[in-house]
Amino acid sequence: MAALERTLVLLKPDAVARGLAGRILQRFEDAGLKVVGTKMVQIDADLAKKHYFDLEERFGKSVFDVTANFMQTGPVIALVLEGVEVVATVRRMVGATFPNQAPPGTIRGDFAHTSKAYTEAKGIVAANLIHASGNVEEAKYEVELWFSETELFDYQTVAERYLF
Ligand code: PPS
Repeated sequence: MAALERTLVLLKPDAVARGLAGRILQRFEDAGLKVVGTKMVQIDADLAKKHYFDLEERFGKSVFDVTANFMQTGPVIALVLEGVEVVATVRRMVGATFPNQAPPGTIRGDFAHTSKAYTEAKGIVAANLIHASGNVEEAKYEVELWFSETELFDYQTVAERYLF
C-alpha cells in the first residue's frame, strides 16, 4: 500500500546566498507538504562524504569533489518533508539535475538555467539550488544522517486533515 513518506531536502549554498529559501519553501507548503524538521547547517567534509557516499562511484571523482566542495562553501538549509509519496513528488517539483533540462514550473527550471556542457567544460559545479532524496531507501538514510529524532516534530497541519 502506498504510504506516507519522509524525504530530505537541502537548500544548497547558492539558494541560501541568493535569498531563495522562502520562495522554495513556499512551493512545498503550497503543495500541502508538511515540514517536520528544519535547520541551517555549515557542513564539513565528513558530512559531505557521508551524504554523497556513492557519488564518486556513480559519476567519477571530479563530480564528487566539485559537488562536495560546493556544499561546504556556505550554509545549507536542511528540511525533512512529509507527505503522500513525497519522495517522488518532491523530485518532480525540483526538476532535472541540470537546470536547462528542468522544465518551467520546477524549482531548478524557474530559478536557474545552467547546463551540463557549460559546467563540465569549465570544471565548475552545476549550481542547481537544491538536493532531494532520490528514492525511499535513500530518503531513510539521508533523514537519519542529517536529523536526530529530537529534531523531528510531531504536530498537525491543516493540509494533512484533507490530504493525508
Ligand atoms: S541523478 O542524475 O538524478 O541520478 O543524479 P542524483 O543522484 O540526483 O545526483 C547527482 C548529484 O551530483 C551532482 N552533480 C552531478 N551529477 C551528474 N553529473 C554531473 N556532471 C554533476 N555535477 C554535479 C548533482 O547536482 C546531484 O547533486 P544533488 O545534491 O544530489 O542534487
